[in-house]
Amino acid sequence: MLHVEPAQGAGARSGDNGPMHDTTDADKGGDANAESTPYAQLGGEAGVRALVDRFYDTMQLEARFAELRAMHPGDLGGSRDKLHWFLCGWLGGPALYEQRFGHPRLRMRHFPYAIGTRERDAWIDCMRQAMDESGLAADLQARLLAAFTGTADWMRNQPDAPA
Ligand code: HEM
Repeated sequence: MLHVEPAQGAGARSGDNGPMHDTTDADKGGDANAESTPYAQLGGEAGVRALVDRFYDTMQLEARFAELRAMHPGDLGGSRDKLHWFLCGWLGGPALYEQRFGHPRLRMRHFPYAIGTRERDAWIDCMRQAMDESGLAADLQARLLAAFTGTADWMRNQPDAPA
């Protein structure tokens, strides 16, 4: 089993939506380093897609995510595709999102949606459940959770309600 570095996730907080993985040219070339990306550890494109599908299935099926689900379009097909394309690049694989849409500008693209701590935590919780039910290795889950948490926190665009 490959050693998994602790989660970084820092690129995602820097404002440029950079990949959570420290991408180098070598990572893209199918050399030995490529195996160490979260993308590779998830099983490549099919593995990322399986996680994304589990994430949106969970959002759809679990009553506690009804508010999060209601923020999304009735047909989740486009949401699935976009998150899949984005995560492939963000996790160290091919930049499928950028190839189609250019720079992700992730925070800006979330401006139409009111995201506070409640929405942030629901998103993270939904992803945590999806990762767990997908049977990901515990160290990979921990690494991804830290990166998702940093990015989800950065998506917040609403102040917390006064106590
Ligand atoms: C913090 C809580 C979050 C909420 C409530 C939220 C909600 C949403 C909603 C409602 C959409 C529109 C769906 C659509 O157009 O089909 C969206 C789009 C998207 N979200 Fe999030 N999101 C959150 C966090 C994240 C995180 C952490 C990531 C990535 C790690 C992410 C990645 C994306 C992507 C790639 C899109 C598509 C953007 C586009 O091209 O329009 N989101 N999100």
